[in-house]
Formats: sequence, structure tokens, C-alpha cells
Amino acid sequence: MAAGGRGWFLALALGVSFLKCLLIPAYYSTDFEVHRNWLAITHNLPISQWYYEATSEWTLDYPPFFAWFECALSHVAKYFDPKMLVIENLNYTSRATILFQRFSVIFTDILFIYAVRECCRCVNGKRAAKDVLEKPTFILAVLLLWNFGLLIVDHIHFQYNGFLFGLMLLSVARLCQPSIFCLWFKPQGPRGFLQCLVLCALSSFMFGWHVHEKAILLAILPLSLLSVQRAKDAGIYLLLTTIGHFSLFPLLFTPPELPIKILLMLLFTVYSFSSLNSLFRRERPLLNWLETIYLIQLVPLEIFCEIIFPLTPWKRHFPFVPLLLTSVYCALGVTYAWLKLYVSVLTERISVRQKAE
Ligand SMILES: *[C@@H]1O[C@H](CO)[C@@H](O)[C@H](O)[C@H]1NC(C)=O
Repeated sequence: MAAGGRGWFLALALGVSFLKCLLIPAYYSTDFEVHRNWLAITHNLPISQWYYEATSEWTLDYPPFFAWFECALSHVAKYFDPKMLVIENLNYTSRATILFQRFSVIFTDILFIYAVRECCRCVNGKRAAKDVLEKPTFILAVLLLWNFGLLIVDHIHFQYNGFLFGLMLLSVARLCQPSIFCLWFKPQGPRGFLQCLVLCALSSFMFGWHVHEKAILLAILPLSLLSVQRAKDAGIYLLLTTIGHFSLFPLLFTPPELPIKILLMLLFTVYSFSSLNSLFRRERPLLNWLETIYLIQLVPLEIFCEIIFPLTPWKRHFPFVPLLLTSVYCALGVTYAWLKLYVSVLTERISVRQKAE
């Protein structure tokens, strides 16, 4: 059960870190300049001025914990290229700056890797199979470490979500660790806590509390832990993850990244479907026919949006159509997954209460 000391965990972590290194030359978004600017601000100014400095349009608008994090990074950045730490150097890039920024994300992901290892310790070992590849802990480690969304948002688009999700998953892991096997199935144990976390994240996502597409990862990552425990959650996980990841596609709109994002998405989706289906092969199918058809329709939608539409004359007058179609189609699926999760949590709570009475 415990992933510690197992060779496979190290191999998974090193493998994905290697992949992250391969993505270093890929496209990066304006967030690259946002973080360069924050490095410069926190490096040069006293704390009292961090939130007032406005030379760049990307003012520091994250909470102080994150600003301190940037400040700590800046003390390493100066050895790579001190020019990136000059506040007036707007849009500054150099090979060393890119390497430093990319490596800072890869390196701080160590916290995420550690948190995943700790989460794997929480997973119930009842289903432990002889074959490592079929163990819930192994599947969970792949679903978290190789999560497609996190890879493209952090290591292509450029952000530090891995590090922050590491903090979140570590608190989840610490909550379930003291007595791994009895707490998990108690109504108020980590299971209930996790369901609440996923539901809250999804609800806040649905009702626009956080409008950025990547916020769906806040529901997907903790849901991974539930997905290897119960067939019902695995079904919701597959549905939500596939839609959520698909909805991240428009973040990467540059042609060279098209094959990368499609290939990575296919790899992750095929793996999550095949591993969870084999884990729960003795139970009924994880998705019903309606859900299956819905997910399969994503393929023609993607072909239309990325290949057919740009060739049509509508592209000039209605360039927003692909984004609109993707958003509406994904919104339907996310709403359905949210309702399904809500109903599943409610009915479980009611049956637990009835049993207790
Ligand atoms: C920096 O880049 C952004 C986006 O690419 C652009 O809008 C802005 O004008 C640039 N600023 C300078 C000072 O070059």
C-alpha cells in the first residue's frame, strides 16, 4: 500500500519530470511575464511597496504567501540572469530566464510529488492486486503525477499550480493518515471531507466564483483519490476529467502545440479509462450509454473547431465560434457531472444516516 521506497513511484515521478523538461521550449503565455515581473518586484522592493508597484500592467495581485514564494525564487534567479530582476525590463526574456522560470516550476513540483506519495499511503489496500500496474495506489499515482491538465497549464501555459496543489493534497493526506483503515469509510472521515472538497470546488467553479478554466483542476485532483476507491466515483471522475481537460484545450492555441496537447490528452484519457475499468471490472460499466456518446462527440467537436472551422469563410467574421461551442458543450457536461456527484453524495449520506438509526 505504502508507495514509499517503491521503485515504481520514483520511476513515475522521474518520467514525468523528464517530460516536463522536454516541454521547456514550448509556447508560454503572458503568465511568463507576469511571474518575471513579480520576481523583480519582490526582489527589489520592501514588502510595504510590493502591492503598489505598477510599472508593469501585471501588478502583483496574489496573496503575500505567494509573493514570498516569488521573493525566495528571485534569490536563485539572480544567478541565472540578473536582468530579469530589473523592474523596468518589461517583456524581458533570455535563454537563461526561460530555463530558470521553467525549472522553477519543475523543481517546486517536488512538493506535489511528495504530496502524491503521501496520498497514495491513504488509499485502502483491500483491492491490492498482485500486479503493480493494477494496484489502486499505482493508478492513483499516475492519475495525479501525470495529470494532463496540470502538465499543460503549468509546463506549457506556465503557472505554479503544481506547487500549490501539492500543499492542498498534503493537507488531504495528513487528514487521512493517522488511522488509515478505519477512518476512511466513516461518514465524517476523509471520504466525507474529500467529497465536500470536490463538491465545493465544483460548485464554486459552476457558479462563476472562479472563472478561469483551470479551476476545474481543483475538483479533478481530489476526485482522483475517490476514483480509485469506488466505481461510482470512478465514473464521475472519468466524465469530469475528460470534459475538464478538453475545456483546457483553448489555453493552447498555437499550431506547434496542437499535436502535443492532443497526444498527451489521448495518452492520459486512454490510461485513465483502461486502468479504472480494469480496477472495477467486476462491477457494472463506469459510464452509461448517454455519457459515452457525450464524450465521443468531443472528437468531432475538436476536429470541427481546430481543422474545419479555420478553413471556412466564417473564421474572419465569427472567430469566437469554436470557443463558444467548446464552452457550451463542456458546460453541459460539467453541470451533469456536478448534479450526479451531488446526488451520489446526498444519497450516500441519507443511507448512512438510516443505517445509523
Ligand atoms: C509586452 O508584451 C505585451 C503582450 O505581448 C504587450 O501588450 C506590451 O505592449 C509589451 N510591452 C512592452 C513595453 O513592450
